[in-house]
Amino acid sequence: MTVSPHFEFRDGVLHAEDTPLSHLANQFGTPLYVYSRQALHDAWEAYRIATRGRDVLVCFGMKANSNLAVLNEFRKLGSGFDIVSGGELARVLAVGGDPSKIVFSGVGKQVWEMQAALKAGVKCFNIESEAELARLSDVAQQSGAIARISMRVNPDVDAQTHPYISTGLKENKFGIAIETAVAVYQHAATLPNIEIVGVDCHIGSQITEISPYLDALDKLIVLIKILADKGIELKHLDLGGGIGIRYTDETLLSPTVLLDKVFQALDAHGLSHLQLVLEPGRSLVGNSGVLLTTVEYLKHGDVKNFAIVDAAMNDLIRPTLYDAWHSVEAVVPRKNAACARVYDIVGPICESGDWLARDRSLRLEQGDVLAIMSAGAYAFTMASQYNTRPRAAEIMVDGSNAHVVRPRETLESLFATETTLE
Ligand code: LLP
Repeated sequence: MTVSPHFEFRDGVLHAEDTPLSHLANQFGTPLYVYSRQALHDAWEAYRIATRGRDVLVCFGMKANSNLAVLNEFRKLGSGFDIVSGGELARVLAVGGDPSKIVFSGVGKQVWEMQAALKAGVKCFNIESEAELARLSDVAQQSGAIARISMRVNPDVDAQTHPYISTGLKENKFGIAIETAVAVYQHAATLPNIEIVGVDCHIGSQITEISPYLDALDKLIVLIKILADKGIELKHLDLGGGIGIRYTDETLLSPTVLLDKVFQALDAHGLSHLQLVLEPGRSLVGNSGVLLTTVEYLKHGDVKNFAIVDAAMNDLIRPTLYDAWHSVEAVVPRKNAACARVYDIVGPICESGDWLARDRSLRLEQGDVLAIMSAGAYAFTMASQYNTRPRAAEIMVDGSNAHVVRPRETLESLFATETTLE
């Protein structure tokens, strides 16, 4: 049975590529994040095919998964990076990423982050407010550098996704209202250390419909034409990230379907000379990873049955935070129908919100290993050490080889730098 092309059951055991996940759980312990290298390559391939023959720069939205091994795979495939902090910049540089393929997003860029990005020579700062533009202009002047910029405009479209991950509405904190963008561009054009190169938007995440993208694109095209009339010519158009993945039975929007429409619109408006920049995060990594966890206890009650596992909201906060659904598979499913029950899969953390999945029909016994699927995006990167729980190890599988790409944190390291008062 196939769960996803890179995670499938063979002889009754869930594998990552050619590696039985039961072996990894035994060898490295749980909780454990496991990534498939081939899945990363195949997700990239979908973008490569969709962008063939066009001038497109795909910048991996690395907030989804910033492990150096993951970044390095995408770097080798030719990816650029969408960063949102000085920390993410440092990670890209650590794997030898090309700064001229980095776009710097984020509403709250600090002076040191701007300085570091200017020093590295990033492709573009995605500016989110007039105040940020003023600061960048000052920082660039002081550094004797020219800062290339794009304005992140807020096109006021509804991405039809969870409110916490919808970013393109007027009520969201992101971007510059599209109505005021022209004036901000005109001001930017007067600043000597600022070079205008593009326009960008990012309307939300886990988007499965094409219409919000096309609505946003229409608005951006109008803006690009107004700017051109005023003598401001752009080099690129950045449509952000946001393409959704399959957590359960979502109908997916493929990069090819979306980009064919985008190219059509650009061509129809005489804008095919513009480079297209994309910032996909989740769609490049989400289905490339699973989180393995072991059932510690089963607790059967009148109203609910609980499987208490060793992973928790600190390892995967998406269910708690967004009510997100992740499929759960037993790594070695039991055949005994007698033990089938409906369970809530919960962690050991002292909060009722600490759950990973609800109302799942599973045949479980204590000690069974479960795979929480689609945990390649926004899982480890959002992990914390709450309850003084070491963050779990990350493994990259390559065929039948497993590489530890980040070891499990040790208990000592969690408080090694803390001190007490006399
Ligand atoms: N570009 C910008 C400016 C962004 O803010 C984001 C994500 C991306 C690109 C990448 O979007 P993606 O292709 O991954 O949808 N933690 C949430 C998702 C938050 C997304 C934040 N911004 C989750 O687990 O669902």
